[in-house]
Amino acid sequence: MSQQTGTSKMDQQKVHAIFFSPARSTKKIVEAIAGGISEDLVIHDITQGVHKPIELRSNDIAVVGVPAFSGSVPALASLYISQIKGNGAKAIIACAYGNCHYENTLSELSNICVEAGFIPISSGAFVSRHSMFPELGKGRPDARDLDNARQFGKKSIMHSRIMNGGEFKTQNETSNRPQGIVPLVAKANADCNFCGRCVQACPVSAIDARNPKKTDKKACISCTRCIDVCPYGARKFSGLMYMITKKRLVDKNKDRKEIEINIPL
Ligand SMILES: Cc1cc2nc3c(=O)[nH]c(=O)nc-3n(C[C@H](O)[C@H](O)[C@H](O)COP(=O)(O)O)c2cc1C
Ligand code: SF4
Ligand code: SF4
Repeated sequence: MSQQTGTSKMDQQKVHAIFFSPARSTKKIVEAIAGGISEDLVIHDITQGVHKPIELRSNDIAVVGVPAFSGSVPALASLYISQIKGNGAKAIIACAYGNCHYENTLSELSNICVEAGFIPISSGAFVSRHSMFPELGKGRPDARDLDNARQFGKKSIMHSRIMNGGEFKTQNETSNRPQGIVPLVAKANADCNFCGRCVQACPVSAIDARNPKKTDKKACISCTRCIDVCPYGARKFSGLMYMITKKRLVDKNKDRKEIEINIPL
């Protein structure tokens, strides 16, 4: 096919799915958006870092996604995206959030992507199961969300062709609320059988390899990756502060929120 069109394999446009996704909802959403553009994706899971150089070309397309952590881009995700070379590739900016608020996440992510050499063309915030308080956003993203994500990917590319590189600015909610660190640490209970999966998966190596029941509280970023990978459901958040926060957030955010997208017309 490439010989007939006169385009060499090297010049062919690639669609990259780039995500930081401790509990895997962002991954699902980014892959659905990118899947609306192409079935042939280059996947970059940067949850545990950028282990080999990621360099795009100007005719490539990227879908870049992160979760909202306290209404912001997680600091680690920001660091890892800044190590990518966008080289003028178009980027669809996406975040997953747990049915509360994503606040500055999309605008921050857009700026981080511009700094990394991408040209943002659209943005979208998608509700997903709250990784820390799973009663929120339960069952999300569901089939409708994922279908909307695919349509969003498709439409973003169509509109960007019509716009022919016109300027895009995220028009998403912003706030000046200071973004604090979540002071909650997941701990292993008696069901732990010392398999070590959480030790390997923790993005900041906060779990003691000899005793996975010991977690370095100062290093932990409360990302929930260890909870997600534990095959025995042995890692959990607990304690009074967790219960009080859960009640407050669940009471306040009971109603289903829908996807918010921003594609320039
Ligand atoms: C530390 C932390 C902070 C979070 N802060 C928010 C928030 O401010 N607003 C919100 O709606 N969801 C929040 N969430 C929920 C996540 O954004 C949501 O579950 C997302 O899907 C997680 O993505 P992942 O599954 O790819 O890890 C937070 C989750 C964690 C672990
Ligand atoms: S110990 Fe903390 S930082 Fe490590 S995976 Fe678990 S929640 Fe994330
Ligand atoms: S993944 Fe679960 S069972 Fe395995 S070491 Fe960690 S807490 Fe224990």
